[in-house]
This record gives sequence, structure tokens and C-alpha cells, in this order.
Amino acid sequence: MTVSIPPVIAIDGPSGSGKGTLCKRLAQRMGYHLLDSGALYRLVALAAEHHGVGMENERALADIAAHLDVQFLPSDDSDKVLLEGEDVSLAIRTEAVGMNASRVASLTLVRRALESRQRAFAEAPGLVADGRDMGTVVFPQAIIKIFLTASAEERADRRYKQLKSKGLDASLADILVDIKQRDHRDESRTVAPLRPADDAELLDCTHLSITEVEQKVMTLIRNRGL
Ligand code: C5P
Repeated sequence: MTVSIPPVIAIDGPSGSGKGTLCKRLAQRMGYHLLDSGALYRLVALAAEHHGVGMENERALADIAAHLDVQFLPSDDSDKVLLEGEDVSLAIRTEAVGMNASRVASLTLVRRALESRQRAFAEAPGLVADGRDMGTVVFPQAIIKIFLTASAEERADRRYKQLKSKGLDASLADILVDIKQRDHRDESRTVAPLRPADDAELLDCTHLSITEVEQKVMTLIRNRGL
């Protein structure tokens, strides 16, 4: 009996490049599952805060990652994320949690603890995986790999508007500093650094609308026969 492996579409790129929106749209169009891997790192950071675990305590953070009690409840308008039964959908999206997520994400034991959890999302009929190392580490067999990028200024502006639309407090200048810091940390870490896979398509969306990006990626997907 042959076991068919569900197709994976891996979308990687820096913070605020529009991966989240793109992946959600692609998953909806294809009827595929969606993995928001950044949310897992954000959840580890938030759980650590709740349990009083410091960002330097790698073993305890890896333990939190391995036993993360989380539920993703998809919906059409805004997805719900429950951590230990509590709705943390908004709490995980703050810039402070994002910054701590990028700290925990630089720890080898934490990344290792989240690997099998991420791979388990690859179920029939297929998966759209959003992250930094989807094409390089977690799903090297992905049938399509996209590296989506945009200038830091454009990404900061988009993040600012996104936070404001959710009613969260935000400063554009602070967001730009955070984005540059996070880019640096993600690109320079020794474990699973942010970089395009050798076989990834590079897509710079600084001057593209989300609909234009979606069309380009859908063309790639259709060209692969999916
Ligand atoms: O994508 P998002 O901003 O939600 O991710 C939060 C942080 O988690 C990122 O800044 C990055 O450091 C980390 N991350 C990662 N690998 C992934 C997804 C996210 O290192 N696959």
C-alpha cells in the first residue's frame, strides 16, 4: 500500500511581509489546513510570562513548548487561539510578545520541541505553512516554497495599520525599530536562521497588493498541478 504525503506549500519571510494574510487566503482557496508557526513561538513566550519563566531558561522554555496546551479555533473573520483554555488571540499579537517570541525562537531546544507539533499539521488534503524555516527545516519536501519579502519601512507601516485596526496601541517608529531588531535576530541566529531555501521562489511584495501577490502564488501553485 502506498501512503501519499499531503502536499505542503511553505511560505517563509520576515515579520510583516504579509505572509499571514496570504497564507490564510491560500488555505481557504485550496481547502488546505493552515499552520501559523509564528503563533506557536508567540504562545511559548506568553506561556513563559504566565508561568514566570525567564527568557534565558532554555530547558524550562523547551518544556513549556513540548507541553503547550493550545487550541486553534478557525473562523471566517478572526481566528481564536486558546492557551490553557484562555482566549489569547489578541494577547499573542502584541509587539512585546512578538519580541519575546523571537527570543525563544533562537533557542535550539525550543525549536526542536515544536518540530513534531508543526509536522503534524501536514494532513490531507494539504497544508499551507507560514513561518521562517518552513521550506528549509520543517518541511524541506514542500512542493512549493515561497520567500516573501518587503522593505522594513513598508512592513512596519503594514503592521502599524494592522494593530490599529485591531484597536491595539502602536507607534510606527517603535514598530520599525522592533522589525529591524527582529530581522537581525531571525537572520543571524545559528539555529534555523531566516533565509530562503535554495529551491524557493523569491517574491518582493513592497509594491504589490495582497491580491497581486495571491495571484502570482496561485499561478505557481496551478503550474505545479495542484
Ligand atoms: O510570524 P510571527 O511574527 O508571528 O513570529 C513571531 C516570531 O517567531 C518571529 O519574530 C520569529 O522570531 C519566530 N519564528 C521563527 N520561526 C518560525 C515562525 C516564527 O523563528 N517558523
